[in-house]
Amino acid sequence: MSTPARVAVLISGSGTNLQAILDAAAAGELPVTICGVLSDRPDAAGLERARRAGVPAIAVDYREHPDRAAAEAALGQQLDALAPDIVVLAGFMRILPDELVERYAGRMLNVHPSLLPKFRGLDTFRRVLEAGDAWHGSTVHFVVPELDAGPRIIRYRIAVRPGDTAASLKQRVQAGEYRIYPRAIRWLAEGRLALRDGAAWLDGRRLDEPVTVDEAA
Ligand code: GAR
Repeated sequence: MSTPARVAVLISGSGTNLQAILDAAAAGELPVTICGVLSDRPDAAGLERARRAGVPAIAVDYREHPDRAAAEAALGQQLDALAPDIVVLAGFMRILPDELVERYAGRMLNVHPSLLPKFRGLDTFRRVLEAGDAWHGSTVHFVVPELDAGPRIIRYRIAVRPGDTAASLKQRVQAGEYRIYPRAIRWLAEGRLALRDGAAWLDGRRLDEPVTVDEAA
């Protein structure tokens, strides 16, 4: 691990989590260097956030490659060229090839908008409302080849309120993501967090349940 740790962030969209990470780093709350931001979409607004922060912003347009494998190879090359210690998926909406995930095993994090293992995949806000669940939230986890299935590290939990919509849930859940994601990245950068024996370990303790942060009532 370099000192400070080099963090590459992968995005596909607006990059509000990226912004929270950039802000935490700029404020000295996250002792890392954001060494680059990669997007699979050249029009991702998050790329502009990176440029504004003076961070290299790189688009690997999947549509410009003959097939998915070629796009994935290009993305992998760009990522490796940044020499990151840590890879952070922040609203990156593509499935990465197993080989790349394995190359960064224990050094790649994702944030997923559900209380995993519930609601893997897409459209979690609509699905949680349809299920009538009392709780929703977001989970930071290590990335493994199986989608949204890696060991969980920290989660933000909110109570679903009467009248909540997908939009209101998203707004409240994302506000929590901006708190928990920089924390998890910091733990990893400081060597406090590790992936071992298929589990997440924090300060030498196996996390059978993720650290839970509740929305203030
Ligand atoms: C985040 O809320 C994150 O939980 C979600 O995408 C959003 C990106 O927002 N990720 C996934 O759904 C991954 N399966 P942002 O671009 O504004 O950070």
